[in-house]
Amino acid sequence: MNTKTFQIAVIPGDGTGPEVVAEGLKVLKAVAARDSLSFHFIPYDLGGERYLKTGEILPESVIPELRQVDAIYLGAIGHPEVKPGILEQGLLLKLRFTLDQYVNLRPVVLYPGVETPLKNKGPEDIDFVVIRENTEGLYAGAGGFFKKGTPDEVAIQESVNTRKGVERCLRFAFEFCRRRNRRKKLTLCAKTNVLVYASELWDRVFQELAGEYADITTDYAHVDAVTMWMVKNPEWFDVIVTDNLFGDIITDLGAMIQGGMGIAAGGNLNPQGVSMFEPIGGSAPKYTGQNIINPLAAIGAAQMMLEQLGLETSAARIEQAVRRVVREDVRDLTAGKMGYGTREVGDLVVKYL
Ligand code: IPM
Ligand code: MN
Repeated sequence: MNTKTFQIAVIPGDGTGPEVVAEGLKVLKAVAARDSLSFHFIPYDLGGERYLKTGEILPESVIPELRQVDAIYLGAIGHPEVKPGILEQGLLLKLRFTLDQYVNLRPVVLYPGVETPLKNKGPEDIDFVVIRENTEGLYAGAGGFFKKGTPDEVAIQESVNTRKGVERCLRFAFEFCRRRNRRKKLTLCAKTNVLVYASELWDRVFQELAGEYADITTDYAHVDAVTMWMVKNPEWFDVIVTDNLFGDIITDLGAMIQGGMGIAAGGNLNPQGVSMFEPIGGSAPKYTGQNIINPLAAIGAAQMMLEQLGLETSAARIEQAVRRVVREDVRDLTAGKMGYGTREVGDLVVKYL
């Protein structure tokens, strides 16, 4: 019994975002009834449709409101009729940066019953977490054009790595690895052989912090090797910590080995502020409105949100229900191939809570 009413901002967003968010909310309401929790959901109409209609991406009044909530639940951002970059920069990245959600936590777990494209690998091999720095690196937007549009054109895109930003992300990773209490192995993923400034800073701070965490085994792998090991020996990983772009890339690979975008969830965390939870798959416009998209990633994001809110029992209940759905009912997690509709998969999770 928890008497607090949790204020949750809900941004369904674009494409299939609203459909999967509807199932996540269905599950949250059911678990709230089951465990006597109280949630107040505050909907925000943001995304491509609103931008096309009104020109607004993120009205000024929204950020101060979002600072007041307990968590943000997001569907997907991205619209086929809006030029790439506008909504991503103006909405998704703007929220991550402004709310200083400096960790993007992305678990890579293969649930029993789910098929992985990796031959001879099973649930005992694929169970790790990627901690992606979420506010800096090549995402910072530093750089510019010189002589744009001329034959002498120059495009410069710089990776910003601050001591503070690197250290807080690494420290979170060490603490997380300790709390997770599995193999207590933390792998730094960087590119020290080429990125002699950015990766050097990451590696130096990593080594410094390692001294404070004697119980954690530290390991280093270049990012190209990480993609190789994720396919060849995923069981080597426990927790991986990396920068923004490397983390973006390796977590799509991670999603594939855990069964696909239909099940991959993530949390944009500000441990001292407001965090935001989302399925990592994007808006999938071609599946919109057909009741065929997989809502399990969005339901997994809701589970992560409850963990962050300190509601571990209810979060575990959702996880157990999802595990049962993929063990007993939905074997193929791909949109359109589940054998159930989006809403029916949500109903199954609710049934098993
Ligand atoms: C993700 C997405 C975003 C990112 C895009 C939509 C800007 O790919 O959350 O991984 O690159 O971070
Ligand atoms: Mn991505």
